[in-house]
Amino acid sequence: MPSQTVLITGGSGGIGYELAKLFARDHHNLILVARSAEKLAQVANELQGYGVTVKTVTLDLAEGPAPKFLFDQLQREGIAVDILINNAGFGAFGEFAQMHHQEILGQINLNIMALTQLTRYFVQPMLSRRHGRIMNVASTAGFQPGPLMAVYYASKAYVISFSEAITNELRDSGVTVTCFCPGATHTGFAARAGNNNSRLFKKMGAMSAEKVALDGYRAVMEGRTLAISGMHNWITAQSTRIAPRRVVTAVSRWVSERVE
Ligand SMILES: NC(=O)c1ccc[n+]([C@@H]2O[C@H](COP(=O)([O-])OP(=O)(O)OC[C@H]3O[C@@H](n4cnc5c(N)ncnc54)[C@H](OP(=O)(O)O)[C@@H]3O)[C@@H](O)[C@H]2O)c1
Repeated sequence: MPSQTVLITGGSGGIGYELAKLFARDHHNLILVARSAEKLAQVANELQGYGVTVKTVTLDLAEGPAPKFLFDQLQREGIAVDILINNAGFGAFGEFAQMHHQEILGQINLNIMALTQLTRYFVQPMLSRRHGRIMNVASTAGFQPGPLMAVYYASKAYVISFSEAITNELRDSGVTVTCFCPGATHTGFAARAGNNNSRLFKKMGAMSAEKVALDGYRAVMEGRTLAISGMHNWITAQSTRIAPRRVVTAVSRWVSERVE
């Protein structure tokens, strides 16, 4: 495949960083967006070693105008994005009624608002060119309600539903949309969420970010509509479709609970 330009939100760490590495190895140019300029500079420095250009944009995508600012800046610079990876996202552990408003809105702004706006802005030039790929990183969390991480699980349910719906609308347009669902993965996510002592992360085991990113990379390049990383995660996701909702919700809570 000829060299493409790939925009990855949250490309400085975790799954986004591993995805960036895979794209760089295959000679694709990168635009990486995150809040920490220092981490972005480190990653850019490393990935330029693959002979690709790496542009970094330091931006908090949870800030309202940030998605439009990013799109306008790239338009002004005449940079066409061939592949958009909406990866940046975070979760917060705790009961909803006690959760700080800032944590609640932060998750909605980043996981839902920014992802939706970036998709809307970047899909337009892709449609004009009749060529483009979008990958929205959801989670296996999106397949069931998630007591103790209610907003995060609901935000990922939105990403799955939204992505599948627009895949249908965009068929035959030349633009593919892939919804990628990792399960628990070793990254900075759990520490940020405050759930690294959960049964899920402590007892059930998480996948490596390298392996998860490779699954995501293959999924977006094949233009798959929905991809779940890991056979055990696929089986768990399927089980939520047949078990009673009340049982699914109770099991989901048990998995999220903190253990010694
Ligand atoms: N790890 C898991 O167990 C897991 C499971 C399922 C799904 N996921 C999903 O996978 C995606 C990536 O998560 P991860 O595990 O790789 O997380 P991570 O290790 O915490 O990395 C998150 C990345 O996003 C950036 N970021 C965070 N907040 C941002 C903001 N407001 N604006 C711009 N960039 C921001 C971070 O850089 P800065 O901090 O410098 O901004 C970093 O580059 C997320 O959507 C997450 O929900 C993760």
